[in-house]
Amino acid sequence: MMEICDKYRPIGKLWLGTQLMIIVTKPEHIHLLTKTFLGKAKQYDFMKQGLGNGLLTAPVEIWKFHRKAINHSFNENILNSYMEIFVKHAKILTNKLEKDFVGIRGSEIIGHRFLHPLYQFDFVWDLCALSKELVQLTRYTFTYVTQIVARKKAQNHGKNQTETKNFISYLMKLTYEKLTWTEKELVDEVQTMMAAGADTTALIESFFMLMMAIHQEIQVLFHIFLIIDKIHQELLAIFGNDDRNVILDDLAQMAYLERAIKETMRLFPVGPVLGRCIDEDFVLDKCVLPNGSSLIIPVALVHRDPSIWKNPLKFDPDRFLPEEFEKIPRGAYMPFSLPPRNCIGSKFAVMSMKVTLSTILRNIRVVSCQYNSVDEIKFGVKVLISATNGYGITLQHRLKEI
Ligand code: HEM
Repeated sequence: MMEICDKYRPIGKLWLGTQLMIIVTKPEHIHLLTKTFLGKAKQYDFMKQGLGNGLLTAPVEIWKFHRKAINHSFNENILNSYMEIFVKHAKILTNKLEKDFVGIRGSEIIGHRFLHPLYQFDFVWDLCALSKELVQLTRYTFTYVTQIVARKKAQNHGKNQTETKNFISYLMKLTYEKLTWTEKELVDEVQTMMAAGADTTALIESFFMLMMAIHQEIQVLFHIFLIIDKIHQELLAIFGNDDRNVILDDLAQMAYLERAIKETMRLFPVGPVLGRCIDEDFVLDKCVLPNGSSLIIPVALVHRDPSIWKNPLKFDPDRFLPEEFEKIPRGAYMPFSLPPRNCIGSKFAVMSMKVTLSTILRNIRVVSCQYNSVDEIKFGVKVLISATNGYGITLQHRLKEI
């Protein structure tokens, strides 16, 4: 897929069954087209079995209405109130790190369908074993979400006002008090947030740990005879050797950590390919993009384009220093897609990743890795990016005096 996109730059086309796909790789085209066409490509319908008309998959008219309503639950006050939860779970993760790992089976199965010409047809897909597995998974998450909603509803029974401090409570208020939408729409949005919010941050954190493991040498500084990596140096400046929890004010000081997260998302964008539906003929550089075709944006390819990023396979967080980043054209960096239909959870994600990764790295050193360079990490272009050969790293407890 990436080879085809690369070969036919800057505007290419390919047929997937009966569907015409237009591929664009030039940042200014991407910027223009993502603002113009807000509907999702036909292949996103394959996710509707699990996500219904939640934000990720909703047709434009429903999306506009829901997005406006849900935006409120991602405002600064509400985001800040999540700090305690981020910290609690970052500590649990740090304690369990050697044992646990994350399953992303649902998106793997849908990814299988996305680019397979025969699986575009429902009657073929319905016959295959993967489709049955997906039905089982969907049933499982649906039951889980409806149980959460039922439990919250029972807790709120008899109270005058629904608590609006968290996402589900806010959506429940819209459903049962303001009658903004139906219970089915509520469940779709909660399922969408769970699907869009959990595996994405987990994957970036996994790739981030790989980057730390591979790039120890570039981060090593000599500091009074001790070897301290740049991120740990930043964390030491903030916390010293104090075991206290991360607080909101600390996050603003984690500038290098944030740049390293951004650089990880450049090399490994969670959504390696984005798709939109072209719903009217559109002329782009003398080419007509026909109504009804799908627009394909190969994010992973654009994020590694050597004409945009110098030495693209080098892991270099300083590309995101403001004075460096302003040289990058609009539409060339889109780990959270581009507005207006970009990731609603981007701030939440960055906050939670900073809390999780700083908590891990204050306590644990990443000492070795199955890979020696970014180049060696092969990844699958499915719905979500994932490392084909896994995330093998070795961890060591960090001595407090270092
Ligand atoms: C590192 C973490 C994350 C990354 C890289 C990421 C990336 C993205 C991308 C690329 C899209 C556009 C998808 C498309 O058009 O196909 C998207 C949409 C979305 N994301 Fe995220 N995401 C992350 C975390 C989150 C979190 C934590 C949440 C929720 C709390 C979330 C909720 C959503 C939703 C609801 C949409 C659909 C938005 C809309 O169409 O209005 N994401 N995300």
